[in-house]
Amino acid sequence: MNIDLFGHVLTGSCLPAGLGRRDHLTFRGNVAVGRHGWLRLTPAYSLHLVRELLRRCGPDDLVLDPFSGTGTTPLACAAMGIRCHAVDINPFLVWLGNLKLSRFPQGTSRAVGTAAADVTDAAHNARNGSWRPDLHAIEKWWDEPTLDALAALWHALRHPAHPCAESVSDLLRVAFCRVMIQSANVSFGHQSMSFKKTGKDAVPSLLTEKHALSTAPIARLFGAAAREIGESLAVEPPSADGRVFLGDSRDLLAVLPERGYTTVITSPPYPNRMSYIRELRPYMYWLGYLSDGRAAGELDWRAIGGTWGCATSMLNAWRPTTQGDIPFARFDDIVEGIGKRHALLGRYVHKYFVDIREHILALREVLAPGARCHYIVGNSKFYETMLPVEGIYAALFEDAGFVDVRVDTIRKRTSKKELFEFIVHARRP
Ligand SMILES: C[S@@+](CC[C@H](N)C(=O)[O-])C[C@H]1O[C@@H](n2cnc3c(N)ncnc32)[C@H](O)[C@@H]1O
Repeated sequence: MNIDLFGHVLTGSCLPAGLGRRDHLTFRGNVAVGRHGWLRLTPAYSLHLVRELLRRCGPDDLVLDPFSGTGTTPLACAAMGIRCHAVDINPFLVWLGNLKLSRFPQGTSRAVGTAAADVTDAAHNARNGSWRPDLHAIEKWWDEPTLDALAALWHALRHPAHPCAESVSDLLRVAFCRVMIQSANVSFGHQSMSFKKTGKDAVPSLLTEKHALSTAPIARLFGAAAREIGESLAVEPPSADGRVFLGDSRDLLAVLPERGYTTVITSPPYPNRMSYIRELRPYMYWLGYLSDGRAAGELDWRAIGGTWGCATSMLNAWRPTTQGDIPFARFDDIVEGIGKRHALLGRYVHKYFVDIREHILALREVLAPGARCHYIVGNSKFYETMLPVEGIYAALFEDAGFVDVRVDTIRKRTSKKELFEFIVHARRP
């Protein structure tokens, strides 16, 4: 029997022998698979893993993903003929998830190509797109010619010369998102997006040409993105209904239209201070889901684990209502240890698990008896204190009355030897 550091039995096909950075267990494995590859967004997890977990499910199951993100779980379910509902607090991700789950009428792919050509023509000829999103320090994201070209493209997309179906227009917005991020001065590190270096180490801008020429490369990128997105519609199309609901996973009874979910496959935010709002802000500002920094911070505060912008000051003011509220033996010591080095971080960790506890209690209410839950989580380290995230999740499930709780270690997350990803499994009695 294999027991991990925290006394949980390790079982199944995911034993940690020779654990490496397994790319098929990350988003990298998804990019070639149809709609999963539309945008490379930070929150996504591995399609391969989801498919493995779905192997026991059939058409009578009703799957739930309470932290939908880019919609990996509902889309995998839909392609396998399994019904799925998902929830996310971020309206941009809810829009994207539902678009991925759409069953498009025949001919949509061709209509996307035609509409994309109309849009690029209009953008080239009119150049009257003066609106730019109110993204802080926008000049760090795009140089002026690129920004002009993007603004013209966005204007043409919003005001088409020939009307097109809403679904076609939505698909073109995804193509726009791709071009917008491809032409931005950002690079993607292990888990988050950062600005490329400036000065002598700078990566040359995609668009060094002057204003008059700059719409051409943007138009080429847009045409290519629209073509790829159109073609992807035929790859593993949904054969069952799936839907993503906008709402808070700490209050599932209020969000979900049904009860009796038989399987949960999900990946909640990890307690690693990564903010999805921070990561997704260029998409959200361009598409109109965010219009100012205050709204961004407030949305991040409502998200579990968010600390972006004003969410930080709100966290500063947050206090737990009771001590000993997290039923994990060393929890208070761990929080105190982290808090001694950085008071805000101690509070961050505490609030994160208060929120997850609330979520697990809400989850119980919407599950069918015998429902199986699979939570993909990553552990963290703050200064010298390890945060045994998987062990705390297991304890929270047990405390909420779940049975057969066990932890599988699935992969190493970074080059740091202590950071792993796990699946916490639990069953509602
Ligand atoms: C790790 S990501 C999920 C990734 C997803 N498995 C995928 O493949 O894209 C976590 C998601 O939880 C969402 N989230 C955070 N707090 C939430 C809450 N209170 N209710 C619902 N969703 C929330 C975030 O917006 C984010 O999209």
